Amino acid sequence: MCGIIGYTGINEAVKKVTKGLEILEYRGYDSVGICACSNGKLEIAKAKGRVSELKRILSGEPRENVLCAIGHTRWATHGAPSYVNAHPHRVGRTCLVHNGIIENYKEIKSRLEGEGVNFVSDTDTEVGCGLINYYYEKTKDPYNAILSASAEMKGSYALAIMLEDEENTIYAIRQGSPLIIAKGKDGFYLASDLTALIPFTKEYYSLNEGELVRLSKNEAIIYQGGEPEWKITDMSFEASKKGGYDHFMLKEMYEQPKAIKGSLTSRIVNGLPDFSSDGLDKSFFEKIKEIHIVACGSAMHAGLVAACLIEKSALVPTSVYIASEYRYNPPITREGTLVIVVSQSGETADSLASLRHAKERGLTTLGIVNAVETTIAREADFRAYTYAGPEIAVATTKGYATQVSLLGLFAICLAYNKGEIDEKNAKALTECLFFEAPAVMENVLIRRAQLKEIAKQIYERDDIFYIGRGIDYAMSQEASLKLKEISYIHSQAYAAGELKHGTISLIEDGTPVIAIATQEALFDKMDSNIKEVRARGAKTILICHEKMQNTEGCADIVFKLPKSSYLGNIFSSLMTVQLIAYETALLRECDIDKPKNLAKSVTVE
Ligand code: M6R
Repeated sequence: MCGIIGYTGINEAVKKVTKGLEILEYRGYDSVGICACSNGKLEIAKAKGRVSELKRILSGEPRENVLCAIGHTRWATHGAPSYVNAHPHRVGRTCLVHNGIIENYKEIKSRLEGEGVNFVSDTDTEVGCGLINYYYEKTKDPYNAILSASAEMKGSYALAIMLEDEENTIYAIRQGSPLIIAKGKDGFYLASDLTALIPFTKEYYSLNEGELVRLSKNEAIIYQGGEPEWKITDMSFEASKKGGYDHFMLKEMYEQPKAIKGSLTSRIVNGLPDFSSDGLDKSFFEKIKEIHIVACGSAMHAGLVAACLIEKSALVPTSVYIASEYRYNPPITREGTLVIVVSQSGETADSLASLRHAKERGLTTLGIVNAVETTIAREADFRAYTYAGPEIAVATTKGYATQVSLLGLFAICLAYNKGEIDEKNAKALTECLFFEAPAVMENVLIRRAQLKEIAKQIYERDDIFYIGRGIDYAMSQEASLKLKEISYIHSQAYAAGELKHGTISLIEDGTPVIAIATQEALFDKMDSNIKEVRARGAKTILICHEKMQNTEGCADIVFKLPKSSYLGNIFSSLMTVQLIAYETALLRECDIDKPKNLAKSVTVE
């Protein structure tokens, strides 16, 4: 949610910051701006819209000599997307960019206005800038000014600050929002996430909560003391490029088979699941009496699938919670409750708040996270990374697939350690997950043209329903979210048996109803549910297990999944619904990688 970047060093600051902004654009893309230090003056350029617009504005002006700049790409919270609300904001001699929300900005604003400070935007950020400038004017001490302001500001923020009095210097502080600094041969950088820094350097340090840093050409000084403990990332710049695909989403779907293998491989020893490299030994699993899975959006949907698998194989009661609810309506817990927080970005504000809340309640926490060294990964008692690599498209695909596969392996491990399945069974299930899941996904990818035909049947509709039972209902929820977030078609997922308790009244002639039916024992029930909507005019599309018989008359269109076990079915149906969403959005000419109103990493509540 908003991306910030900064550079100070020996050359081409504007070029570097705009390049970083292009990479960060997936965090927000309604307006953009940059502040550059030029001949001792702070110069701001900004635009409503995307980085390309900013580049257009900047083109033609020679800026090679600029050695220090900060930039911002915005996902609006306070104030509509507009030129005036775009960052950087400037008050007096202070200029800054911000990711997060300053919750008490109204009271600070009226106090400062009473002192004669003038604000021009609707943003909380400008108020934060005004507050730092207020203390700076009083003390002329940047550290003191930033820390005094920071002590007053409630909420979350990562700030990159430039002062007109200090040429080519950036101050940065984080509280609740992510911030990385990095050391290059050509100077020092900062950014909201590591991917934006990979083109420049691999040596980075994640700031801790409350840490204040001063970056100049030659050094990075942490105010609280100590040298940054630089780390080296193995992330490659290639991994964050489109690599010839039309969209990042498409590339990331194609990467799923490999990403799943990559997430599982180090956790399988002698054919059995083994999480000891994550610090999860036999006694950890034995102690688990109950599980809460807490997450947002697709990560929460991964939890729904995982809950089915855990309860089925390990017989451990598992509940799934939307993170924004968990914290304020905490369920009753007991000794032996494990809280699993699932997050691709590792920075989702509600998921992080739930993690902290669970820790405060003395519960054991495990983070299932993709982006390494992020706050959820660092703060959870235990963490298991999904190793999907950078995910750039706002709509998650490989992030979700690796969450499900890792949680699936966790379920097998739990069942085995609790004695609910024997070694032979545990090995067989592990083999299915490791070999079958990637293979069936490849199979569906090869049949992409068939899914394009399905997309042609639905892309002009206003409403679509997904139905399924049990684990297929969990998948329907992800299918529905994927479709609506990138194609903007209203879509809803229903438990197949529940539709007739109200929603069936919405079925009209031609309303697409997509049924997912992968469970043999429930074929007849699903068949009846499809007939119910068909009788009311629905255009029915059935995604089913190859064993389902007499499907020709059952639905208007049938897509049979490749032969596989119930574990494999999860992944073949996933690839199917992802491709339907993608092809539909393509036909509707939507901006697939950057859907309107969204941002990749939701770092505000
Ligand atoms: O980074 P996280 O996994 O914590 O993100 C959670 C959701 O914001 C995310 O899954 C969102 O729903 C995606 N846009 C879905 O494609």
